[in-house]
Amino acid sequence: MASPPQDLLDTLAARLGPKGFTRDPREMEPWLVDWRKRYTGAAAAMLSPASTEEVAEVVRLCNEARVPIVPQGGNSSMAGGATPDASGLAVILSLRRMSRIRSLSPESNTAVCEAGVILSNLHEAAAEEGRRFPLTLGAKGSATIGGLVSTNAGGTQVLRFGTMRNLVQGIEAVLPDGSIYSGLAPLKKDNRGYDLKHLLIGAEGTLGVVTAASLKLVPAVGSRIVAWVGLASPEAALSLLRLLDERMSDAVEGFELVPDLALQLVLRHVDGTRQPLQGSHAWHVLIEATAPAGSPSPQDALGEVLEAAFSKDMVEDAAIAAMEAQAEAFWRIRDSISEAEQKSGAAAKHDVSVEVSKMPRFIVDAAAAVERRFADVRVIAFGHLGDGNVHFNVQGPDGASNWLKEEAPGVTAFVHDLVVEAGGSISAEHGIGQLRLAELGRLENPGRLNAVRAIKKALDPNGIMNPGKLVPLA
Ligand code: MLT
Ligand code: ZN
Repeated sequence: MASPPQDLLDTLAARLGPKGFTRDPREMEPWLVDWRKRYTGAAAAMLSPASTEEVAEVVRLCNEARVPIVPQGGNSSMAGGATPDASGLAVILSLRRMSRIRSLSPESNTAVCEAGVILSNLHEAAAEEGRRFPLTLGAKGSATIGGLVSTNAGGTQVLRFGTMRNLVQGIEAVLPDGSIYSGLAPLKKDNRGYDLKHLLIGAEGTLGVVTAASLKLVPAVGSRIVAWVGLASPEAALSLLRLLDERMSDAVEGFELVPDLALQLVLRHVDGTRQPLQGSHAWHVLIEATAPAGSPSPQDALGEVLEAAFSKDMVEDAAIAAMEAQAEAFWRIRDSISEAEQKSGAAAKHDVSVEVSKMPRFIVDAAAAVERRFADVRVIAFGHLGDGNVHFNVQGPDGASNWLKEEAPGVTAFVHDLVVEAGGSISAEHGIGQLRLAELGRLENPGRLNAVRAIKKALDPNGIMNPGKLVPLA
């Protein structure tokens, strides 16, 4: 098939109207390139339905004509998960017009959001009702609920609230044959066997299109305390986390590891950032602790834990943000690491997890192994230590223009082998998309791979849903 049949395109155009259908190259262009600008695709059309019924009809028609569909929300995938291939055979199915918060109930602590709701809009709507949706990440201004569900997104608050999987109470989706699965009821107990909701969460649009989700809300934050800590090693950071667990239990919701190299890159490349502590430290940790309204601020408790850690030589220095502006400044440093890295040259990026208690050793040993094995590279491992997940990025030698194409794949294979050896995952939070597809095929347990392919075949026998993502070909 050279392109989708003209009569199908005509039917879709008539059904969706001018707001819901375009083939204009200029309108489509921004949506054909992934966020990291690694992949550029082509599409026969971009469809933007306004309702679940329209999505269902589009999917049914495309399935009948065997036309591939690439679902897309805010296009902020870190793994090329929402970019079509270069053939031009597929259509992009944008969910951005479905941007209604259908309901938000403080009584039941639930928000029902359509797939195109932007994360920061949900944050604001929940705050107006004295509630909070507790998942957040750097792309919150563009990432949509459908994409967050479909990638089982993580972010910086997973330590306390878990990933998207823990926050989705119900789902509405269009399955590959065009039927609608209406499972939005936020049932606490539901024991009917296979859980379609969990199958669709993290499926990257390969099993259907998520059109809405019931999401769990929590009480709004009454007070929050942010601290920046300097310490000697990832091991010391984990000891500090354990101390915080013991003394403050649930109050700690962010615990982010920053190597000094990453801090220095941010200070060099990101305007308006400042050294958070006086002296220099090999490693840093950003801690965020919160309390709901009406509960005492966690400030004193955090101060006491940090003093105790200081007296045990666990930490070298620490600053508790005195004002909200300083708290924001600390977070800005953390959230700017990727941007600073981008500006400082080519890097092979990895998103790996191992058991939390093994992560400090893994970081140190794997970094040493990589730097021994490959000439002139530098490892920058940062991120969600409390979740056992770091972005284990390897920067290429300065000025080596072809490094990313020629050398980085070997580096990635080397890093992933170490992760598998340590019993970990090669995709902790960014998903597989197209970026990690070959590596998943190379490294995945054969039993799991068979099961994944069988599920895909059963639900999407014509292979129309987001082909070339997540499911390695047999
Ligand atoms: C982060 O934790 O900052 C992002 O997930 C990492 C990234 O942009 O690689
Ligand atoms: Zn991350």
